[in-house]
Amino acid sequence: MKSTRSKALVLKSIATFLVVFAFATGCSSGASPDVDPQDTELVLGRRTYVNSCVSCHGSTGAGGIGNQINTPEILELYPTIDEQIELVTDGRNRMPSFGARLSEEEIQAVVRYSRETLIEAALVEASSEVEAS
Ligand code: HEC
Repeated sequence: MKSTRSKALVLKSIATFLVVFAFATGCSSGASPDVDPQDTELVLGRRTYVNSCVSCHGSTGAGGIGNQINTPEILELYPTIDEQIELVTDGRNRMPSFGARLSEEEIQAVVRYSRETLIEAALVEASSEVEAS
C-alpha cells in the first residue's frame, strides 16, 4: 500500500519535471527544441539539425540565411515527408544538397524533426505569447 503510493508520487514528480522541462526548453531561443529521448529517430534528427542546419535556419527553424522552416505552411508546400526529403537531398538555389553529406536515415530523421518538433514548438511558443499578452 505504502509503496504504491510513493511510486505514484515518484511518477507524479517525473511528470511535473517533464512539463516544466518542456516549457523551459520550448521558451528558450538559444537551443533547438528537445525531443522524447525514447524516440531514437527524433534524437538523431535533432542532432543532425543542430550539426547541419542551425547555421542557416536558426536553432528553432525561424530562419536566418535560410528561410523559416518551422511554420505549418511548410506542410502545405511539402504535403508528404518524401517531397521534403527530396528537397533536402537535392538542394535548391542557396540551399545545399545533403545527399552526399548525410545518410538517408539522417535526412529522414532531420526532416521528421523539422516537420514535427520544430513546427510544434513554434506553435506552442506562439500560443504562450498570446496568453502572456
Ligand atoms: C548554407 C545555408 C543552409 C544550410 C546549411 C541549410 N539550408 Fe535549408 N535552405 C537554405 C536556403 C538559402 C533556402 C532557400 C532556398 C531557395 O530559396 O530556393 C533553404 C531552404 C530549405 C527548405 C525549403 C523551405 C521552403 O520554403 O521551401 C527546407 C525544408 C530546408 N532548407 C531544410 C534544411 C535542412 C533540414 C537543413 C539541414 C540538413 C538545411 N536546410 C540546411 C539554406 C541552408
